[in-house]
Amino acid sequence: MSWEYDIPKIVFGEDAIEELNRLKGNSAFLVTDGVINKLGLVEKVVQILSDNQWNIAVWDCAEQDPRVSSVREAAEGMRNFCADIIVALGGGSVMDTAKAAWALYAQPDMDLTALNPFEELGVREKAKLICIPTTSGTGSEVTKAVVIREDESGRKFATINPELVPDLAILDPYFVKDLPKNLTAWTGMDALTHAVEAYTSSWKNAFSDACTMKAVKMVFEWLPKSVADTSDMDARGKMQVAACLAGMAFSNSQVALAHSLGHSLGSVLRLHHGMSVGMALPYTIEYCCTDEDTAKYYAELAAIIGIVGKKPETVARKFAEAIRVLMEKIDSPTSLKAAKVTKKKFKEGLNKLVEYAMMDAAITMSPRNTDSNIIKRIYMAMFDGEPIDF
Ligand SMILES: NC(=O)c1ccc[n+]([C@@H]2O[C@H](COP(=O)([O-])OP(=O)(O)OC[C@H]3O[C@@H](n4cnc5c(N)ncnc54)[C@H](O)[C@@H]3O)[C@@H](O)[C@H]2O)c1
Ligand SMILES: [Fe+2]
Repeated sequence: MSWEYDIPKIVFGEDAIEELNRLKGNSAFLVTDGVINKLGLVEKVVQILSDNQWNIAVWDCAEQDPRVSSVREAAEGMRNFCADIIVALGGGSVMDTAKAAWALYAQPDMDLTALNPFEELGVREKAKLICIPTTSGTGSEVTKAVVIREDESGRKFATINPELVPDLAILDPYFVKDLPKNLTAWTGMDALTHAVEAYTSSWKNAFSDACTMKAVKMVFEWLPKSVADTSDMDARGKMQVAACLAGMAFSNSQVALAHSLGHSLGSVLRLHHGMSVGMALPYTIEYCCTDEDTAKYYAELAAIIGIVGKKPETVARKFAEAIRVLMEKIDSPTSLKAAKVTKKKFKEGLNKLVEYAMMDAAITMSPRNTDSNIIKRIYMAMFDGEPIDF
């Protein structure tokens, strides 16, 4: 059986943004959000494009965890402007808005909630997509994934389509220089979760493994430094690369249980994606490590950060603990209580949390089977911060 590994061209490092000078075309549609626009990051991109005589439209209405209706608005803008390149400047929410809108630009009548890996979109007949991440975590700049929210229910759903791998990813540390401490920490945890879940997925392959192993090493080394000193541009650049490697890995291997739990936390409690999946990660490691093969994979990752031992399951549990220690170091909550979710809110949301986690596509990739009751027990452990022993 053959396999494919899809990634875009990646330009990284100081002044990587100058790569925009090499683009060819007439009309550039820039997708961003209000925060990025206020930070002045848009100016730098607009300057380079206007120096190269591009017609430019700036759409700065991307939502955090974008809804279908907002993606439709972006696609409408692309169509009216006859964009021949789309530039996404922002975090995962902006990039996913741009990617999903790109699909609707090519297929205006498509039901976005039905987007699947097999649909032929023809996006490149309309435009090329350039992604410039302003957070270091989602890896969306290199993935075939999009995560969107349904308007009525608010449920986040993730899907993939190989055509949605962007054409160019520009990783320039300038664009993450103002990322606050909390978002630096949470998005970094998203990267680690992508790496770990990609490594234990049944779709894992030598290419995704290589990216994962380097990403895990880099996150443990550089994330605490990025958070401790947000002006450390070397650490910032390293985290951009780590997040991108983890993105390549999971896009070509898949994420699993921590992401199903995390997507649901985003939908029901509106917690940040990286904070949610990062918090879920150690609990899911403890749950899945009773599976022998999976425990071996966790132990291989643990060895990268110097945790070794005879019994893979024991090493896996130590790895989960090391992830909690990392989160404490960077002040990322290790329990829902610590994330300031009240008992009342948690109890009110619990059934929906379980329902949405069970509906999430990533749950099918869990290395150990689950059911509604198990998911409920994991959420309850996550609320109190109790390690999983079942
Ligand atoms: N498509 C994929 O492959 C993929 C992978 C993982 C996550 N996601 C999705 O991405 C979204 C999360 O993305 P995210 O974690 O990048 O956060 P985000 O894009 O939702 O942004 C969070 C907040 O940070 C602000 N922000 C972004 N960059 C900033 C900067 N440099 N300085 C200051 N503020 C900045 C944004 O304006 C926003 O208010 C979720 O919806 C998640 O489900 C997608
Ligand atoms: Fe993620």
